[in-house]
Amino acid sequence: MEFIKVNTQYKKHIALINLNRPKELNALNLQLMTELKDTLKVLDEDENVRVIILTGNEKAFAAGADIKQMAGKTAIDMLNVDQFSTWDQIKKTKKPLIAAVSGFALGGGCELAMTCDMIVASESAKFGQPEIKIGVMPGAGGTQRLTRAIGKAKAMELVLTGNFISAEEAMHYGLVNKVVPTEMYLEAAAELAEQIAQMSPVAAKLAKESVNRAFETHLDEGLHFERKNFYLTFASEDQTEGMEAFVEKRKPEFKGK
Ligand code: HXC
Repeated sequence: MEFIKVNTQYKKHIALINLNRPKELNALNLQLMTELKDTLKVLDEDENVRVIILTGNEKAFAAGADIKQMAGKTAIDMLNVDQFSTWDQIKKTKKPLIAAVSGFALGGGCELAMTCDMIVASESAKFGQPEIKIGVMPGAGGTQRLTRAIGKAKAMELVLTGNFISAEEAMHYGLVNKVVPTEMYLEAAAELAEQIAQMSPVAAKLAKESVNRAFETHLDEGLHFERKNFYLTFASEDQTEGMEAFVEKRKPEFKGK
């Protein structure tokens, strides 16, 4: 891997992925995105990993897609490269994925953070969709996910002006889960991950899938989907263990089976 670093044993059952193009503020070139997609697939299949944290560095989570790589491309070049199949694959990650964001999360960087399931932000984080300033518009979900996350008025403003919002504003609008002092953002993401890693991995995957369904379908269909996944949890040993542990007043030991 050239542009990402992976620690499969960052903490018990938690893997950490670092975007690693610091000089370019982690601009997301095609190779980085392919490395990320491939890594997430491997981690999704790794039985020891229950939660994945995706982060950058203090200055930048990611300042967007690599503008230098896109400059000079035609629409047909972009169509043929089909970078969005990589993004679609990332979205299919079944395990909980937490973005730990500090510094810039712009354009594709903001979209990547929003593709994750939760965002923990440092107080220095800045979110935005500045594509309009370079004559284009968001292409990896910005107009859709940002609008669903923070509502039409603010999303429209960010997409049309290219302005950034601070971590505090992002918190106010419901884009992020928590904001912490900059020196603590990774630790805070790890704390959240550790809490989730103690739960049944089977239930976590099914619950994640069901919450995501809420964005993709109408209520009746979503409730139906939720019910099927709820029933499915009863096929797991973790369900038996979880309920027995409650009755026996002890801590459950989930195995992901
Ligand atoms: C390529 C980038 C980059 C990017 C920064 N760099 N962002 N290179 N693509 N998105 C490079 C700079 O060219 C520079 O390289 C180095 O990183 C440091 O950046 P500076 O601009 O010198 O830093 P600073 O003055 O602190 O400004 C930070 C910044 C600015 C405000 C984040 O870099 C910026 O505006 N970046 C572009 C943000 C953007 O427009 N993002 C959306 C991209 S389009 P050198 O070699 O000069 O030192 C997009 C579409 C997604 O994301 C569609 C789907 C994939």
